[in-house]
Formats: sequence, C-alpha cells, structure tokens
Amino acid sequence: MSLISIDQLSKDDFASLFELARNIEQGNYDRETAKRNILVPLFLEPSTRTRLSFETAMLRLGGQVLHVPNIKDLAVSKGESLKDTIRVISSFGDIIVMRTPQDPVIHFADQYASVPIINGGNGCDEHPTQALLDLYTIYKEKGRLEKLNIALVGDLKHARTIHSLLKGLSYYNVTLFLISPKELRVPKTIRTILRERAVSFVEIQGLEEVIWELDVIYIVMLQHHRMKDPQLVKELRQTYYCVTPELLQAAKQDVTILHPLVRQDEVAPEVDALPNAAYFRQVQNGVSVRMAILCRMLNGWLSS
Ligand code: CP
Repeated sequence: MSLISIDQLSKDDFASLFELARNIEQGNYDRETAKRNILVPLFLEPSTRTRLSFETAMLRLGGQVLHVPNIKDLAVSKGESLKDTIRVISSFGDIIVMRTPQDPVIHFADQYASVPIINGGNGCDEHPTQALLDLYTIYKEKGRLEKLNIALVGDLKHARTIHSLLKGLSYYNVTLFLISPKELRVPKTIRTILRERAVSFVEIQGLEEVIWELDVIYIVMLQHHRMKDPQLVKELRQTYYCVTPELLQAAKQDVTILHPLVRQDEVAPEVDALPNAAYFRQVQNGVSVRMAILCRMLNGWLSS
C-alpha cells in the first residue's frame, strides 16, 4: 500500500518509526534490508532534499535507484499519458517516490501503479515524509513532542509541509500559533481537522506578538510559484516574515528554528551560526527517517 497522506499513520506508527530512525542513526540496522529492491524517483517538480535523501536512504539500505530522466526527456513530453507512464515505470521498480505539481495527480498515479508510491509532495496538499522528519526533529531537539508552544509561520495556505505537519502535530498535546498574513491562512479543511481533534490553536499575523512564548518556530517561504497574482506576491514579499538574531533576543534562549527549506529571505543567514538553528540538522534527520520509512514499506507496512 502507498503512503499518500500522513493521516494513514497513527501516533503509535510515528513512535515506532522514530525508534527505528534512532536505531538506524546508531548503526543498528540490517544493511541489506533493501537488497534486490529498486527505488524509482519520479519527480514532476524540482527537488533537492526529498529526492536525494530518498536516493541515499535506498542506497544505504543496500538497494538500488533507477535513474529516471527529467520530465522533458520522458515519453510524456511526446504525448504518452501519465496513466501509461505510471504503468510502465512501476514495472521497473519495487517502490516509487513521486512528486506532482497538482494535488490530485498522486491519487491518480496510485490507481495505476503496480507498486507502492510514497508521496514526495503533491501540489499544495501534503508532504507526509517531510512532516515525519519534522516531527522527529522536534522530538530530538526538544526531547518531547508534548507540551510545546509551536509557531508555524508564513505561507500557511500553499505550503504542503505545513498541512501534513499540522495533521501530525494534531495527535500531540501542543499549543499551535498559526502566524500568517490574512491572505495566506491555513486552509479551512485543516482548521476543521484541528478543531475536530481538539487541538489548541490561535491564528495571528505578528510573530513578535508571541515570540517570547515559543519553543519552536517553523517558518516556510512564500510559495510564490503557486500564486497567480504577481502584484499580490510583490506586496506579500514586502511584509513577509524574517527571523533575525535581533528578533530572537525576545525569544526563549532555547527556541528551536526549523525550516523545511528552500529558504529565501525568511531566515537571516546570521541565524545559521546560532545553536537554535536546526534546519540543517532537520535535513540530516531526513535520511534516517526516510530509511526507516523504506524499511517499513518494503516489509509491508501499511499493507493491512
Ligand atoms: N523540503 C523539501 O521538500 O525540499 P525539496 O523541494 O528540495 O525536496
């Protein structure tokens, strides 16, 4: 079975995955787990972290990675349907990690694939493996996932990492500060999920208003490539958030700064040297978490 949404997993699944990721980091895993298995990375949108961390994860587990050309060099560019491409590609490997520019395409692909698909980000909708590594990073940095004040800051409307992370965080006893311009609020569907799961959250526009309360600041870039109105993009850019050392003077000394990256201007480069800046450790955690995901999925995880 495929991993399309983080909602397919329970809190117990998270805990067991994180324990496996920790064991992997300590070298306690079978280096031939994925022997004779082939990963097919099918990315219809650019990626650095997700694609390459899945590829290295598969190689570290003793598996292999199929070289898949860029979309312009695939037969879809001369008119092959995505349905046929998926049918063909899934006969060449054992598991696919796929990124799609539109939300529903991943579900369509999953219908026609003969092997499990891992959602590597579908449009504005979800990025479940990013959320898993984000949760794992919070757990490692703070030593817990409960009783934390967590701010999610920026373009909460279009950022798929935010949507999956909010669903994941909804299982924990946390207080969420959803900080965005009014044009970029979290979608209503996600707010409804938070209410149904009795998550404590507030929506505000100013990071400065609450900075002193926060244990974690998770900030995302303005997803300008998802927006159609260049004037609105220009206006939003002018007032967009930026975490700076000066701003952090008002924060708790041990506040953790996370970012799924790509970064534009929303975290000042001077923050990188602070111990609070955990976004490159977050990238490293992506390898062990994705190794854990591959271990589980190649062994029939989610098959029941
Ligand atoms: N965080 C993330 O999804 O990065 P990439 O776009 O580089 O995969």
